[in-house]
Amino acid sequence: MAERCGQCHAPPAPSRHSAEEWPSVVERMRVHMVRQANQILSDEETRIVLDYLMKHARTES
Ligand code: HEC
Repeated sequence: MAERCGQCHAPPAPSRHSAEEWPSVVERMRVHMVRQANQILSDEETRIVLDYLMKHARTES
């Protein structure tokens, strides 16, 4: 559990939520994980990387 849930913050104590609350919390964490995996390069980072690469790109083929 610490391995899966301690990647972005300290693994939470189970006493933090009731058994009724936990499913919706974990569902929200799954959304965070998907988002993070899909956002390895943000729009801003993509722009900066592309800007640099294109500026220093090979001029002749
Ligand atoms: C991809 C990163 C990431 C992972 C992995 C992750 N979390 Fe989170 N967690 C967050 C973020 C961001 C917040 C703050 C925003 C929020 O509360 O949704 C948070 C907040 C929390 C909170 C405090 C908010 C609340 O409702 O009590 C708990 C508890 C929690 N996470 C439990 C877990 C559990 C359990 C797991 C494993 C299934 C997990 N987290 C894995 C990103 C993550």
